[in-house]
Amino acid sequence: MPRVIVDDVVVDVAPGSNLLAAVRKAGHDIPALCYHPGCTPNTSCMACVVRLVETGRIVPACATPAEDGQRIESETEALRALRRTALELLLSEHATACGLRGDGPCDCGQEELCRLRKYALAYGANPRRFAATPRPSTPRDDHPEIIFDPGKCILCGLCVQLAEQVGEPLGLTVVGRGSDARIGVPFEQSVAAALTRAGRRVAAACPTGALTPRRPNTRV
Ligand code: SF4
Ligand code: FES
Repeated sequence: MPRVIVDDVVVDVAPGSNLLAAVRKAGHDIPALCYHPGCTPNTSCMACVVRLVETGRIVPACATPAEDGQRIESETEALRALRRTALELLLSEHATACGLRGDGPCDCGQEELCRLRKYALAYGANPRRFAATPRPSTPRDDHPEIIFDPGKCILCGLCVQLAEQVGEPLGLTVVGRGSDARIGVPFEQSVAAALTRAGRRVAAACPTGALTPRRPNTRV
């Protein structure tokens, strides 16, 4: 069982664990927006960074295996600043209708479930630090269980992986390139056709209000 030292706290984690498990076991709730157990890390958010003391390297905790005897830093001011910047970059292109931008209330009705919002507030992230064009909020109301708003997506890819895992015949995919990349349904089909079984599962994993369970106070 690997024993890791996280900011002077010694923790043992299960074999095969990543450093995110060690950090969390040490009691630190760091942002890990594009990570989900059972999915392949794609390190798109870079909000979970930690520092390997031996080499000085900054690495994403979600994609770095925990090794016995490793010593890492998690809660230094420098690392918190890097995480804050990662959150600010995500927020800079986030939906116009996000309440964090100060233009009005969040319109997805998922404030309490949105992990981007939770960590942005915890880290004091400034949504306007980086100049970028926020995406318009474009909710799709064509699934019986969930609402899909690509404008709030941070392209973590978890929904694509999870839909594949349950064997959705259509599923979701990344369409477009570069700054135009977004999550969409192949062949312009409906979200209901894309997610025949995985709707609630992907909504539970989505780190933002891009995929949310349908409920009475969810506005479209
Ligand atoms: S819709 Fe949600 S789960 Fe899917 S890529 Fe966007 S943020 Fe990630
Ligand atoms: S959760 Fe580790 S890079 Fe996104």
